[in-house]
Amino acid sequence: MAAYDYETHVYDAIVVGAGGSGLRATLGLAEQGLRTACITKVFPTRSHTVAAQGGIAASLSNMGPDHWQWHMYDTVKGSDWLGDMDAMEYLVREAPKAVYELEHYGVPFSRTEEGKIYQRPFGGHTTEFGEGPPVQRTCAAADRTGHAILHTLYGQSLKQQAEFYIEYFAIDLIMSDDGQCQGVLAWKLDDGTLHVFNAKMTVLATGGYGRAFFSATSAHTCTGDGGGMVARAGLPLQDMEFVQFHPTGIYGAGCLITEGARGEGGYLTNSEGERFMERYAPTYKDLASRDVVSRCMTLEIREGRGVGPNKDHIHLHLNHLPKETLDLRLPGISESARIFAGVDLTKEPIPVLPTVHYNMGGIPTNFWGEVINPTADNPDAVVPGLMAVGEAGCASVHGANRLGSNSLIDLVVLGRAAALRAGKVVDHEAPNPELNMASLQKALDRFDAMRHADGGTPTAELRLEMQRTMQADAAVFRTDKTLAEGVEKMEQVAGKMGDLKVTDRSLIWNSDLMETLELANLMPNALATMVSAEARKESRGAHAQEDYPDRDDKNWRKHSLAWVDGAKVRLDYRPVHLDPLTKEEDGGIALKKIAPKARVY
Ligand code: FUM
Repeated sequence: MAAYDYETHVYDAIVVGAGGSGLRATLGLAEQGLRTACITKVFPTRSHTVAAQGGIAASLSNMGPDHWQWHMYDTVKGSDWLGDMDAMEYLVREAPKAVYELEHYGVPFSRTEEGKIYQRPFGGHTTEFGEGPPVQRTCAAADRTGHAILHTLYGQSLKQQAEFYIEYFAIDLIMSDDGQCQGVLAWKLDDGTLHVFNAKMTVLATGGYGRAFFSATSAHTCTGDGGGMVARAGLPLQDMEFVQFHPTGIYGAGCLITEGARGEGGYLTNSEGERFMERYAPTYKDLASRDVVSRCMTLEIREGRGVGPNKDHIHLHLNHLPKETLDLRLPGISESARIFAGVDLTKEPIPVLPTVHYNMGGIPTNFWGEVINPTADNPDAVVPGLMAVGEAGCASVHGANRLGSNSLIDLVVLGRAAALRAGKVVDHEAPNPELNMASLQKALDRFDAMRHADGGTPTAELRLEMQRTMQADAAVFRTDKTLAEGVEKMEQVAGKMGDLKVTDRSLIWNSDLMETLELANLMPNALATMVSAEARKESRGAHAQEDYPDRDDKNWRKHSLAWVDGAKVRLDYRPVHLDPLTKEEDGGIALKKIAPKARVY
């Protein structure tokens, strides 16, 4: 048994992670007078939300007619009918309010001539239930929308006296024997001390696991820490096979070029100079949903029409746009193109390639953020004391494919919802739970074992093996063969976790140990992704299975659940919520409007 001293902190609620959803939850909790702490491994304004560029979707109608029902239809269609209808309705109906709230908190949105919030077109966002022209629904602060939101939410959280534990790495959940979450054990990176956070409610806002792949727009900090902790607590991960590739990562570097670039009039071409999206998506062209655009780009490359000496990427053109538009609306990507692609986008196209960008799957929750662990008689049974929000969670508002700019709105709407729900279920007056010392000791022992890992495989080597396997076998297009090979390889890779070698045994700024703990979090996320993908015998949203090219609603309109134990994964399924929150007669959307149909753009 490992013996470590630790300090104990007692709160009503703790939030792990300080990106958009974590800060919105922190702010909402603190505003209600709950004793709230936010624990984060990076400085809050360095969380990955800072990199979100194009904007945040809400049907404000600032640039033309729009309606929450159109937004809902687009989101349902974008999800390829896998999203939960109640959650999607909640998201789109709350979206305008959430954006105005951000505006009042101080987010410096770009403005129209009349001083309204500026909105741009984004892929898959349309009018008239997909029958009308593209809508301008994505509210933007130039192409630095995430940056603007993150800084504002951090300032507001400080104003509400939320407490921040910055550069603390959460190691594991502390769970009672009867399955209630009691808080987390964390490691303070700059002085090596350990900290127990005892909380009545723990909100995981740890972001996605893009770094399970070799090339991702995600920051290096996106290591699925919440999913890792949840898997080790014996809880499932949901819909992990659905991994979004953003069409326009910079070729080679992987950094994001916002979809807002196409929203402002940019377009893609192949080696023949053809605007090929016109062929695949005659109505919405370059503004089709991103899974569709990514697949079309991949097909063009496969069929020999890629650009460059190796014909292995695509061109994104912005050079026809007025310089004022680029300066005003897209200053950030002008800089990224120059630095990372060596391109002056006023003169030349940007070399781009579909790049891993977002995880639709994650920790299953309802739209209040409460974590779900299904029982035999209740597929929606809630884990007391535990919530998950943002990319870490799976509500499921994005189903099998997320629309661009529906992520930032998910962060703030569902971050706020989790805070409101916690305000109801947490008894401010009640004593905190008595900690389960066995669970804490288990977390300490795991930490100690990692710290003293003395096998033959350096962390960086195993991480690379995992990333290359995921990139090759859980790619834009998948087949029975690639997925079966991927499962076999990933089981081997995960099996080597016991052979890791950590060379630095210190506790202060030990990046070797931290990267090893991060790898231990990435691994269950990656395994669950590959195994869930291998099992799903259909194509839906981001899961393009070439041996089963059609969507199969009869057999597969259901959420995958994956329990990961070491290198083994057990799968099960739970039903999709088919009923929206509001009946048509009470002002809700007509069920026939959102009934499954072929998904064409
Ligand atoms: O393209 C972008 O600006 C990304 C937005 C998103 O993923 O929502």
